[in-house]
Amino acid sequence: MTARATTQKTKRNAESAQARRPAKKKKLLPGLHVDEGYIQHPFDAEYGVRTSGLIVGRALKSGHHNDRHNTAYYGVAPSIFQRILAQWRRYKPAAPLSEYTFVDLGAGMGRALLLASEHGFRQCIGVEMNPTLAAIARRNNALWRKADRAESPLRLLCRDAVEYKLPAGPCAIFLFNPFGAPVLKRLLTQWDKQLRGREGQVDLLYVNNEQERTLRCQSGWTRLFAGEIRRSRADAIADRDILNNQPDGEYMAANWEDCSIYRWTGNFSSF
Ligand SMILES: C[S@@+](CC[C@H](N)C(=O)[O-])C[C@H]1O[C@@H](n2cnc3c(N)ncnc32)[C@H](O)[C@@H]1O
Repeated sequence: MTARATTQKTKRNAESAQARRPAKKKKLLPGLHVDEGYIQHPFDAEYGVRTSGLIVGRALKSGHHNDRHNTAYYGVAPSIFQRILAQWRRYKPAAPLSEYTFVDLGAGMGRALLLASEHGFRQCIGVEMNPTLAAIARRNNALWRKADRAESPLRLLCRDAVEYKLPAGPCAIFLFNPFGAPVLKRLLTQWDKQLRGREGQVDLLYVNNEQERTLRCQSGWTRLFAGEIRRSRADAIADRDILNNQPDGEYMAANWEDCSIYRWTGNFSSF
């Protein structure tokens, strides 16, 4: 056997040994493995993006001290998102959507951001503290643009929401129960200073409003709406199947979300 043939044989042996070795399991965030109850949401199957999964807050470590107030990752039900946006538009935003920045504080894998980008906002910005989720959201944004679905520029910033300063002009802030009261309180205190004398309406759309009391106690914000928003039948089925498949059943499925909508009126006694 020639030296060349020996080298080729060695190479082939190495390749077949590699093929026999079990494929290295990709390290996913807890809750994203099928054996941990993961089920793909129909939204992802339809649009070829990755926004499914339920990750408990305690598993979302970013090294930031606000990690301990992280509730969980879960993508908003598309029908809930569309319905709260429609509800908000009934309260007559002061400018056309093309002048509004949509800001999702706690953007996760970016499902709400993708949906918002189809409504013609001036820009859509997501702020996500967890770097793995932020990287997934950026990939989703790229896929959305490539599929020509985004009507607005899409940006994802990987940082704590309290480090984010609202952009100039009208803003619609979206929250899908991302954090506990300490973080919301801190944000409200910051906004109280930032928003005084600022041009442009600022509204807050809050889905699964667990910290509603914190907002109610904050001066400068007027509540426009509070109530249950129902999921579409298809979303109710999808979320029920996903949540019923959790190994420890920590989260409950419901056909609606408690929601509220607030407007910053701190600059004026009435609006
Ligand atoms: C329930 S998920 C909502 C995801 C997305 N908004 C949606 O509706 O599809 C909440 C997200 O908020 C993020 N989060 C929690 N605390 C945060 C903070 N202080 N700053 C930025 N993101 C945060 C979590 O990591 C999680 O991805």
